[in-house]
Amino acid sequence: MVYYIRFLKTPRVQQQKGSSVVSALICITTDLGDAFLAQDVDLIAELTISHSSKILTTSSLAWQAGKRELPISLELPRGFAQQPVVLTVRPRGPQSPVKDSLCPVPLVVSGWSTPISAQLPAEKLIERRFSLGDSPEPQTSDLCISEETGNSIARHIWDAALASVIYLQKVTSGTSEGMPSLGHLLQHPRQTPLQVVELGAGCGIVGIALAQLHPYCSVLLTDLPEVEEIVARNINAARPASQSTVYYRPLDWNEPPPEDLCSSAIDLILLSDCTYNADSLPALVSTLDRLVRISPGAIILVALKRRHDSETVFFDLMQSAAFQSLQDGIPLPSQNDQVDQIELYCYSR
Ligand SMILES: C[S@@+](CC[C@H](N)C(=O)[O-])C[C@H]1O[C@@H](n2cnc3c(N)ncnc32)[C@H](O)[C@@H]1O
Repeated sequence: MVYYIRFLKTPRVQQQKGSSVVSALICITTDLGDAFLAQDVDLIAELTISHSSKILTTSSLAWQAGKRELPISLELPRGFAQQPVVLTVRPRGPQSPVKDSLCPVPLVVSGWSTPISAQLPAEKLIERRFSLGDSPEPQTSDLCISEETGNSIARHIWDAALASVIYLQKVTSGTSEGMPSLGHLLQHPRQTPLQVVELGAGCGIVGIALAQLHPYCSVLLTDLPEVEEIVARNINAARPASQSTVYYRPLDWNEPPPEDLCSSAIDLILLSDCTYNADSLPALVSTLDRLVRISPGAIILVALKRRHDSETVFFDLMQSAAFQSLQDGIPLPSQNDQVDQIELYCYSR
């Protein structure tokens, strides 16, 4: 289970005894927010100038097992109170990804605030940065996704999404063959753009990553209308490959998908961490069934972290709808050197 640094109180600039101080309150929890990291981790908090990334101040912090929150307070150097700065909180030193694997996701995922100054309060967001290349260090040219600091289910990044990104990265780069139908789809040069639809896209991390990784694709992100603002922000910050595009349309599984959903036949449907709610599974599988009836050659990549037994209903419904699957997995780090397997399935008819 990966752990995420979160802002319980987003950073703000305050005047204290003639100095300008940036203060915030963080915690480190799972994607669901249902458990705090129960292991000691050394952290670094850093203030950088928003536009140049020049480091202004750095401070060491310690998260200890049993903690539920950790205050941060960093003094701004004189003259910088009016300049927009960004607070980064990250684990100190080399990250410990899963042993003996190329997993680029660390146990503790770092966070970046939106720019703040004495006049500019932070937005209730936290940005995540992931390297899509060979470099272990996240760079701004890589995948940057904002998620909300509150408790929304949709406007967060979930572990299975991280596994999907890793898997798509391995398969598009040819590092791994992946499941054969997916490898064939993602690795062969194309005359027309690969048509991709993501269902329940949340913040859009998986579809946006694919648009950055694949040289020639058109990715439609879909979800309930509540994600529109965050997904628009993430699309705006995305850097799709030069011939690729990514856009958003609302799509509720409880409504039949519109006939004009995509301009041409769908090649790939993405789905990550969408099977946690057994009540919504019949509508989800019915949407998949309808989409694949319109695009019979489509394959569906499903990533899921098993959270409870009722999720097996998904597999029964997919089998009843005549979908056949192949299975693979991606290990993610978990606390105390444990590993968490994220399951991946490739469905087709
Ligand atoms: C746990 S989140 C996963 C988000 C994202 N795929 C990820 O892995 O980070 C499940 C997503 O399914 C979406 N969802 C749930 N019911 C839905 C429905 N009836 N129609 C469309 N999307 C739905 C939610 O809004 C949410 O974004």
